[in-house]
Amino acid sequence: MGKILVTGGSGFIGSHTCVELLNSGFDVIIMDNLSNSKMAAVSRIETITGKNVTFYQTDICDYEGTTKIFRENDIDSVIHFAGLKAVGESVAKPIEYYSNNITGSLVLLRVMKENNCKKIVFSSSATVYGVDNTAPYTEDMPTSSTNPYGYTKVMIEQILRDVCTADPEFSAVALRYFNPIGAHKSGLLGEDPNGIPNNLVPYIAQVAAGKLRQLSVFGNDYNTPDGTGVRDYIHVTDLAKGHVCAIKYAADHSGFEAVNLGTGRGSSVLEVADAYERACGKEIPRKFAPRRAGDIDASFADASKAERIFGWHAEADIDEMCADSWNFTKLNPMGIN
Ligand code: WQD
Repeated sequence: MGKILVTGGSGFIGSHTCVELLNSGFDVIIMDNLSNSKMAAVSRIETITGKNVTFYQTDICDYEGTTKIFRENDIDSVIHFAGLKAVGESVAKPIEYYSNNITGSLVLLRVMKENNCKKIVFSSSATVYGVDNTAPYTEDMPTSSTNPYGYTKVMIEQILRDVCTADPEFSAVALRYFNPIGAHKSGLLGEDPNGIPNNLVPYIAQVAAGKLRQLSVFGNDYNTPDGTGVRDYIHVTDLAKGHVCAIKYAADHSGFEAVNLGTGRGSSVLEVADAYERACGKEIPRKFAPRRAGDIDASFADASKAERIFGWHAEADIDEMCADSWNFTKLNPMGIN
């Protein structure tokens, strides 16, 4: 099987995907600028799999650097994770987000074209469903966003559709992630955000570890069973295995496909906090706080298309996800170093 170039491959989802690619017999090349990840993740990928990884510290906007990677390696397909991904930050820094995420993707696609590489799996997001659709989300729904980060995903999906229209041999799969959480069973890889976490489960993990005092529950007046936000949490390893299915699908097909990677089940903030208490054996102190701007009541997938075209479905439940998250947090109190 050919070599897979994984942009952003030392990040949270990228590193878990590299493990599953290597375990499936693929050769992996990681390209990452290490702006939001660490080299230690690469050596941990090698420890877990017992296989070597080729690594380039290269930015996706670096045309010469990206060309060098394709010149030095016979790359069959690309999985494109690299990009800025903080919703709130994107509102404050739209030029940085559009420049990095869109320009970086265009540079990558240009180099792929110049090297006759015609298969890509793109890290998209359920955020493209915006606020005008009602869950469970299906892939045929119209896409939109309420923030520049989400619009970069909408726009890159459109760019991929247009590339596939222009070149009938091109194959692009846009994977729309719901809420990835958890960690590799070994405890060697996991979510290791810089600074105070924006996302729910990394925040709860730091409360459980005693690094943060209590969880603020952003809103308890949503139109959900217990009034708190409902999301479709998916184990990062299930998500990673979905990428292996997607790269195999891209190899056997041409054209553009958007595919949800979710469990199809929603969990509320309070349900997640309770599951984490069961996982760590400690109380997670919490208080209700005002809604966070831009949050929606409920987001969860119709996960049937991934089952139909990939033969894939998520397996871990919320208790297993929280147990694996806590195991990683306990083993890595200072993150991955
Ligand atoms: C989940 C729920 C919050 C923190 C985001 C991005 C999305 C994707 C996944 C990239 C919500 C509540 C959170 C806290 C809380 N990322 N919450 N207290 O917002 O669904 O999705 O991450 O693609 O683009 O938007 O995830 O984990 O931030 O929030 O009550 O301290 O937890 O209100 O209901 P979200 P999240």
